[in-house]
Amino acid sequence: MNELESKKVIGLMSGTSCDSIDAALCEVHPDLSCKLIKGINYQYPPHIRAKVFQLFKGEASVKDVCQMNFAIGKCFAQAAGVLISEFGKPDIIASHGQTIYHFPFDEKLDGISLKSTLQIGDSSVIAQETGCLTVSNFREADICAGGQGAPLVCFADEKWFKCNGNIAVQNIGGIANVTVISNDCPAFGFDTGPGNLIIDYCMNKFFNKPYDEDGKTAESGKVDESWLDCLMQDDYYFKNPPKTTGREYFSPQYIENALKSAPSAPEDIIATVTALTAKSAAAAYERFIDRKLNEVIVGGGGAYNPVLMKFLRSYLPKYIELKTHEDYGISNNFKEAMAFALLGYCTYYGIPNNLPSCTGASKRVVLGKIAY
Ligand SMILES: Nc1ncnc2c1ncn2[C@@H]1O[C@H](COP(=O)(O)OP(=O)(O)O)[C@@H](O)[C@H]1O
Ligand SMILES: [Mg+2]
Repeated sequence: MNELESKKVIGLMSGTSCDSIDAALCEVHPDLSCKLIKGINYQYPPHIRAKVFQLFKGEASVKDVCQMNFAIGKCFAQAAGVLISEFGKPDIIASHGQTIYHFPFDEKLDGISLKSTLQIGDSSVIAQETGCLTVSNFREADICAGGQGAPLVCFADEKWFKCNGNIAVQNIGGIANVTVISNDCPAFGFDTGPGNLIIDYCMNKFFNKPYDEDGKTAESGKVDESWLDCLMQDDYYFKNPPKTTGREYFSPQYIENALKSAPSAPEDIIATVTALTAKSAAAAYERFIDRKLNEVIVGGGGAYNPVLMKFLRSYLPKYIELKTHEDYGISNNFKEAMAFALLGYCTYYGIPNNLPSCTGASKRVVLGKIAY
C-alpha cells in the first residue's frame, strides 16, 4: 500500500429525499479526519428529478434506467464541476450515486440470492466529464460479504465523533438511521425507519410543497395519538438489527394505505407523521440499544425541522442530551457527502471501509469501484 497522504476529495451524494445532489469538497487526512472546504446543494433539473421519482415508483423501463444512469452521471459531474471551477480538480471524486432500488433481503431464485442494491449515475461519465479519478458503487462489496450494503456512514461516524460514554448519531434524511458509538465496543447502526420521506410525501399531496419548511405546518397541527399508535405498530419497528429500509418499503402505496385511517385536517396529518419519525427513532433506541445513551446527535435535513427536534426531545428520557452535528463542528447538510469523501479516500488506498457491526457483513472489505 502507498504511504497515506492528505487528499482533496469531492464527495457526491443524493439521498432518498432526492432534494439535491450534495457536493462536499473536503481534505481527507491520513488519520481519516476530514475537513469540509466547501459544500454546495446542486438541484437536479426538474424533469430529471421527476424521472427519478418515476424510477422510484417502478414506472420505468430498462431503457429509462439505462438513460438515467448516464443522465444522472452528468448531473453529478456538473455538481462536482461547480466546485472544480472554484477550487480546481480534486485528487478523487467519491460518488454515492442515486439509489433507485435497495433489496437487502435474502430471497432466493433457483437457489441464487437476490439480495441487491442499485445506485445509478455512472462513474465513467463523472470521470470523463471532470477528468478526475472517480470512486463509486460503495454498497455492492458489502452485500457480497453478506451485509446489507447499508448503513455505510457509520464508518465515518465512528472516526469523527469521539465519545465519552455512549452516543447515538442520528441521521434524518429521507430514511432515518442511527450509529451507536461507545468507548468499549465497535460502532453499530441500523435504519430506525422513515425520516422525512412520509412528511415530504404528505406535504406534496396536501399542500403542493416539497417539504415542511421549518416544521411550520406540523406546528399548526395536532398529533392524532391514536393514529400515531396505529402507525407505530408496523413490523419494521420491531425487527431486530441489522436492518435497513428505503422507498421500496415506505412507498407511496404504503403511505396511501396509512392515510386511510388518518385524521381529516392535513395539518394534523403532518404533525402526526412528524411525530412518527421522532417516536420510531426513540423507540428503536429503547428496543435495540443495550446501553444507556448520554447524547443523541442529529444530522441530515431533519435537524433543520424544529418541530421534529421538539418531538424527539419529548420522546427521549430527560437524561439524554439532544444535539445536532453542528454542535460538533460538522455540517448537518454535508455530513453524508463528507462521509462518502472519506469512504472514497479509503477505497483509493485499499483500506477496508465497511463496518460489519452495522451492515451485518461477515468481514471487513474494501468498498467501491474506481473509474479513471
Ligand atoms: N428547513 C427545513 N425544515 C424542515 N425540513 C427540512 C428543512 N431542510 C431540510 N429539510 C428536510 O430534509 C430533507 C432532506 O434531507 P437530506 O438529509 O438531504 O435527506 P437525503 O439524504 O434523503 O437526501 C428534505 O426533503 C426536507 O424534508
Ligand atoms: Mg439530500
